[in-house]
Order: sequence, then C-alpha cells, then structure tokens
Amino acid sequence: MKKKENKKTKNKFENKKLRILLKKSKNTTQKKEFKSIIKKRKGILKNLKHLPIAPHIHEEIKNHIKNIDNKDILEKYQIELDKVNVTVSIMKEKSGVTYNIQTPEISVATNALLDEIREELISVTTVGMNEIIDQNAFKQIKSKFAQEAEALIKEKLPNIDETIKDSFIGKLMQDMLGLGKIEFLINDINLEEIVIPSAKEPIRVYHKKYGWLLTNLKTEKEEDIINYSNIIARRVGRQINVLTPLLDAHLSTGDRVNSILYPISTKGNTITIRKFARDPYTMIDLIKNKTISIDVAVLLWLAIEYEMNVLISGGTASGKTVLLNSCMPFMPPNQRIISVEDTRELMLPEFLYWCPLVTRSPNAEGKGSVTMLDLLVNSLRMRPDKIILGEMRRQEEAMVLFEAMHTGHSVYATLHADSASETVSRLINPPLSVPANLLKAVNLNVVIFRDRRKGTRRVFQVAEFDYDGTNVTTNIIYRWIPEEDRLIKHSESSRFFENISRNTGLSQKEIDADLKEKSVILDSLLKNDIRSLNEMGKVINMYYNDKENLLKNLSKSDFKKTLMG
Ligand SMILES: Nc1ncnc2c1ncn2[C@@H]1O[C@H](COP(=O)(O)OP(=O)(O)O)[C@@H](O)[C@H]1O
Ligand SMILES: [Mg+2]
Repeated sequence: MKKKENKKTKNKFENKKLRILLKKSKNTTQKKEFKSIIKKRKGILKNLKHLPIAPHIHEEIKNHIKNIDNKDILEKYQIELDKVNVTVSIMKEKSGVTYNIQTPEISVATNALLDEIREELISVTTVGMNEIIDQNAFKQIKSKFAQEAEALIKEKLPNIDETIKDSFIGKLMQDMLGLGKIEFLINDINLEEIVIPSAKEPIRVYHKKYGWLLTNLKTEKEEDIINYSNIIARRVGRQINVLTPLLDAHLSTGDRVNSILYPISTKGNTITIRKFARDPYTMIDLIKNKTISIDVAVLLWLAIEYEMNVLISGGTASGKTVLLNSCMPFMPPNQRIISVEDTRELMLPEFLYWCPLVTRSPNAEGKGSVTMLDLLVNSLRMRPDKIILGEMRRQEEAMVLFEAMHTGHSVYATLHADSASETVSRLINPPLSVPANLLKAVNLNVVIFRDRRKGTRRVFQVAEFDYDGTNVTTNIIYRWIPEEDRLIKHSESSRFFENISRNTGLSQKEIDADLKEKSVILDSLLKNDIRSLNEMGKVINMYYNDKENLLKNLSKSDFKKTLMG
C-alpha cells in the first residue's frame, strides 16, 4: 500500500519533467510516447478526485476549533490573509502564555491533490527577478496566480464549497509565493517581532500586549528556513548561501528581515523579522499616555509649521523615533519632505509629499553600499523643504545637516544624549565636532527619557541653545518634575518666538492665539478619540486648507465619522 502511495507522488513529479521534454521534443514518435505515459500516470492521480474532500475538510475545521479548551484562553481574534481566516488564541498554559494559530489541517488525500495543482502552477510562479522586487508587479503575479489556481481547483473539484476553495487558493499562495504559515504571523498587527530560531524549536513572537510568546508553529525542516531566507533575499535582489550566510533586508512592506544560516548560527538556520508598525503611536497617543503635554505638543506643531529646526535627544529606546514620527502629521501639505534612515521606521500620513530613503550595507564583495552621508548629500539635490534624519551619529552627517539648516531647509533629527546640556556637549565634542557657533541653528531641543523601572516615557526637557560668542548654553523652557509627573514651564524663551516673529511677522500676541487654537484642536481630538495616523493627517490637512470649516465641525459629535467617511 505504502509503495503504491510513493509511486503516485513520484509519478506526479515525473509528469512535469515529461511535459517539458514533450514541449522540447521534435520527434513525433517520441512525442506520442511521452503523451501516453503522461496519460497513464494521470489516470492514477485521477482516483484521488473521487475522495469526498469538501465535507471531509469541513469536519476537520470544526474539530480543530472544538479542540481548544475555552477556559484557558486569554484572548481570541481573527487574522485574514488572502481570503483565509484563521483564529489566534492567546492561551495561558502551565508553561506560560502561548500564541496559537488554528489553520485547518489538510488530509493526505487533499494534500496530494494540492500537490498536483501546485505542479501545474509552477510555470506561473517562475517569474523574473524584477517582478518580485516591484511591489505592484508582485501584486499582479499574485492575482494571476489566484486566477489560475481557482480555474484548476474548479476543474478538479467542480462542486467545491466557495470558502474551502478560497482557503485552498490562500494556502497555495502562501506556500508558493510566500513564507507559508509565517505569512499569517506577518499579517497579525499585534506582533512586533517574529523569530524562527531553528527547525528544532517552535517559532517565537513578540506580542504588543503579552511580550515574548511561544507559538504552536514550527518549521518542518532546516531546509524550509533556508528556502524562506532565499525567498526573502530574492524579493530584495540579494542572495543568501554558504558563502554569504548573513542577510539583512528591508522588505518593500517596511518589515526588516535578518537571516543567519547554520553553522554560523550554531543551533540551526535562524530568521528574525522585525515588523514595521502598521499603526504607529501618534501625538494623541503620547498625550494620552502622558509622554508629552498638550502645551509642548503645540509648541512642536508651531515649530514645524514655521520651519524651525528641531533636535530630539534621549537614550537608547527612550522613544526618540516615536516622538519624531508623531510630529510628522504636523507638516504642512505641499512641502517636499525627504527622510533618511538606516532602517525604515518613520511613517507619514498618506497625502504628504514624502520621499523616504534608507541606507544599504555593502554586499559580500563589499560593493553597493549607500551610506547616510550619500543620502543626505543627495537629498539636498532633491529640492527638499524638510529633511528628516533618523539618527545623527557621525561628523560628516552632522556637518551636512547643519549646512542644510544654514541654507534654509528645516531639519528634524534624533541624537543620543540624556539632557539638553549633554546634547550640546555631544554636538561640539568629537566625534561630531560641530563648530559651536553653528548650534544656534537648532531652534528647539526636546529631550525624552525612559523610566526603566516603570516602563514609562516622558519628555524631560524642552530647550533652546544660546551662543555668546564663545560658549553654548541651554535655556530650559519646559521641564518635567518627577514629584508631580508633569511638564511645567521653566523659563521664558529667549530666541524661539523671536525667530518665529522674524520669519513670519506675527506678534507674540498672535503667536499666543495660534498656540491656543492648536491646543483646542488637540484637546478635541483627544476627547473624540481621533488618534490614528491618517485621521490626524486629515484633521491637520483641514487645518492648513480650511481652518474655519475644521473649527466649526470639530466640536460636533459625529465629527469622527464624517472625517473618515
Ligand atoms: N512614548 C511612548 N509610549 C509608549 N511606548 C513607546 C513610546 N516611545 C517609544 N515606545 C516604545 O519603545 C520602542 C522604542 O522606541 P524608539 O522611538 O524606537 O526608541 P529610540 O528611537 O529612542 O531608540 C518603540 O518601538 C515603542 O514600542
Ligand atoms: Mg530611534
């Protein structure tokens, strides 16, 4: 019996070879011979079609769902991918909290049939490199693939149930064009990180709410992990193999993938996927969780509207990038924004005129690197209004950035420093070594810190820099007081408002009125729970294009609905 089964699978794969030979062959008798063998072999496979697949699968799905014991479930939600719905259950078990995905089990018979379809679909998936790298072309391949798969399934199983058909198409798509079941994890917006440690261990994920969790998924063989690494590498036009066993790649979705092959990774082949936040923290979130006050948020808004330069400082993982990103929706429309980063982290509302650039490390032969400096220098040739630099680390980058400020661009960047005075000392001392007299180009320095014990983030200081001809001093405008967990006004600004007045002709009274108006807007977004990136983007776009209308509608109870509707 077993032997027979093996023979069937073998036949299937032989058929593919034969068909290729058939195409190539010019000899008619040979052609005939090939055709007859294929026909015979197909006959064996045909038997499989009579199996009652549809009701069978129904039963399997039902059983699978039944198998989960309700009392241990902390949370349950659905993920949809390519029309396949799967249920995720976060379960509390003796060993800890785990992440479980229920995908329908597929029987041996069904799998054999899917294999047959797979084989016929190979021609659709053997695509050129360019098509894979280009996101739009990839979408087209996917839809062409889905069409052909659908036709084949319908041909083989004319009475198949619609949802089961869709789940088959989805499965074929994930297996042949993607990373199999891992595609579901990539599509779960609650996950920040996905780790395939080796084929011996289960996949682990970092969940926004529950932290690190073990999953019920495992890759079957080490080869699968190599295969996934190859698929990822191909998508970005790179390779990973014995000679170049490391891969660090940014997918076009913004996700970042790192892959290391055995024996460099001694336990086995390993893949780490750091997912790009699909729903980033916005200024409203940061006001809500007390990272920042409305007063300071509107100060940042004013700075961005009137082309001031802003530096955000803080320690590692203090929330610099998150704060920088949450300022982005304040950008006026129709300004060219160029961002330069090592890893793509920034995310702007849809309609802004934004060109995100990322660096690239050299390949195995040491070629093809694109540095931050390359991109910064290049960005100046792209006629930018605003330049955003992920993180300032090297002298050359700092010099180009200060040069850009001096030539009238507004610049936003983050820097590793724990206070305003440390920011100054970091800037003027090696390795950055920015000449002290250039520092006055920075209009606002916001310092953020993370309380490691409580896990909270707070804006700690808002400062400006003064230069007296020899020294740079800091003037702290706002500071955080720990006793009250509150940001308070510390001293009057010496230059910030003066600069805005000079640039815009606004009097201090007018600036105060402007700030007040902005606070009213943020306050009302807070109260109406208007917080997502694109909601914020829309509101601020209205602010710049049709302020009267915004102010008139803002207080209405259905504002949120009309905004997105
Ligand atoms: N204000 C905040 N409130 C809550 N979580 C935050 C906040 N800022 C950052 N985080 C969390 O900390 C992580 C690291 O923040 P990030 O801005 O990338 O740090 P940095 O750029 O300072 O190294 C983020 O991925 C996010 O999960
Ligand atoms: Mg950062």
